[in-house]
Amino acid sequence: MNIEKSFLKWPGGKGRIIDKLLPHFPKDCQFIEPFVGAGNVFINVSAKSYILADINHDLINTYSWLKDDLAMLYNTTKELFDTENDFYDIRSQFNHPKFRETVKLAAQFIYLNRHGFNGMCRYNKKGEFNVPKGKHKNIYFPGAEMINFSNKLLYSDASLLCCDFTLTIGLAGAGSVIYCDPPYLTKHKDSFVGYTPSGFCYSDTELLADCLYDAVLRGATAIISNCDNSATRDIFHRFKLHSIDAMLNSKLN
Ligand SMILES: C[S@@+](CC[C@H](N)C(=O)[O-])C[C@H]1O[C@@H](n2cnc3c(N)ncnc32)[C@H](O)[C@@H]1O
Repeated sequence: MNIEKSFLKWPGGKGRIIDKLLPHFPKDCQFIEPFVGAGNVFINVSAKSYILADINHDLINTYSWLKDDLAMLYNTTKELFDTENDFYDIRSQFNHPKFRETVKLAAQFIYLNRHGFNGMCRYNKKGEFNVPKGKHKNIYFPGAEMINFSNKLLYSDASLLCCDFTLTIGLAGAGSVIYCDPPYLTKHKDSFVGYTPSGFCYSDTELLADCLYDAVLRGATAIISNCDNSATRDIFHRFKLHSIDAMLNSKLN
């Protein structure tokens, strides 16, 4: 199986287990991803149309530029990678922009993703990106992956949304397939849920299960990834369980 890679590194990215996930997805449907993250599933799945959503505004801004003006984003990002820069200077500019939704911000987001520690994406309570500099000396410029992702966004019927999962799941109807890959509900207090300033807790996961169940009653198919423990088994007890062996961390995607 030819596995396409995202241009972003992402905590919990599903690139490594995509071959185990794909057989569970029906084809030729409307494919809805409320937690699209780095889009590792989107670039490998085949569907009639796609709704790609995430609550991370910086991520969806980057996807919008990839879709609307690849050349501009590619050149701005390449220049940033090719110039001698101080990581913390770029991070500070990114956290205090003069304008929102610019190509500069999208390029800085890719720069920080590749130059930051382990490709983490974490924000503090003030909404500031606070990942420290990574240790790698040779940083890969993901130009080929950006082009590939952009082509898929452009030439498939893909819509982008920046919103909470409840709104995205509300769009699903008969024939939709919803794939949810939310922040995992682990037993460990230090498990990674820092994608957003507010995190993702037990009640969010319960709400997700309820929204998905409502969508199933409307005729949609719902597929969810999560870690296997007593809490998730309890919350998702109305769904059929498939176990997959996966060691995921932000280094491995
Ligand atoms: C595990 S990652 C998804 C990874 C993706 N499947 C991949 O392979 O690249 C979870 C995503 O959920 C997003 N997220 C967190 N809370 C959310 C919410 N309330 N609504 C929508 N997205 C949310 C995060 O920004 C993050 O991108």
